[in-house]
Amino acid sequence: MIHKAAKDLADAKNVVALTGAGISVESGIPPFRGKGGLWEKFDPMEYAHIDAFKKDPAKVWNVLIKGMKEIIDTARPNDAHNGLARLEKLGILKTIITQNVDGLHQMAGNTDVIEFHGNFAWQRCMDCNRRLETAKIDISRIPPRCECGGIYRPECVFFGEMIPPQHLYRSQKIASECDIMLVIGTSALIQPAAFMPTIAKRAGAKIIELNLERTPLSRGTSDYILMGKAGEIMKRLISEIDRLR
Ligand code: APR
Repeated sequence: MIHKAAKDLADAKNVVALTGAGISVESGIPPFRGKGGLWEKFDPMEYAHIDAFKKDPAKVWNVLIKGMKEIIDTARPNDAHNGLARLEKLGILKTIITQNVDGLHQMAGNTDVIEFHGNFAWQRCMDCNRRLETAKIDISRIPPRCECGGIYRPECVFFGEMIPPQHLYRSQKIASECDIMLVIGTSALIQPAAFMPTIAKRAGAKIIELNLERTPLSRGTSDYILMGKAGEIMKRLISEIDRLR
């Protein structure tokens, strides 16, 4: 299966990747669902909904955002991120649509990354819209406040908020034009991101899925299901592709 998928990738000219939290697990960032998932411990509607944040920003900062900052600050790309960077260098991979906010694809060297759910690298004042890098945010006082007195929020898309329209339109467009969509480490449960593989498939693309377990895409949408850790599978895919080219 890995050999066949590698051969298709080596022959492809326009590959798009859709990534989710699972690709960053080997970098030490917990996923949302499944084993060790954040939403096993916390109710997302209580901590990741925009109304919950507006109602009690200190609670969300204390329980969720502070911890995310500590983990993301020190996380580094793993073999799966590095494999996608290599695929871009080889001229095979064009764009990554990621649901992750950790910036690890850019750190690995990918240059065209659509951050579907925003990114954690920046905070924005909810009153005056001033932006400040998350690394420079003073968290000695929670919630952190801007000079104007407004509260900082991460530039991530909370539940209850819209996907930035330009990201949504461009993702739909590139999904409908690619030869292969690589779907890595997503439970494929959250819309509209989870619909991108269906758009690609309907337009004639092959879908290669890398995940520890089966997802709603595994039955009917994915052409290849490569089960295991994303970093390990990606390493094998890349060495096969290097051998074939
Ligand atoms: N390698 C490959 N896949 C893995 C690995 C790994 N090492 N570890 C976990 N996975 C898989 C899990 O089996 C699961 O299918 O990654 C997936 C992670 O799923 P989610 O936690 O639901 O992540 P994601 O699909 O990105 O979530 C979508 O939901 O809560 C929101 O905004 C949040 O962007 C997120 C969205």
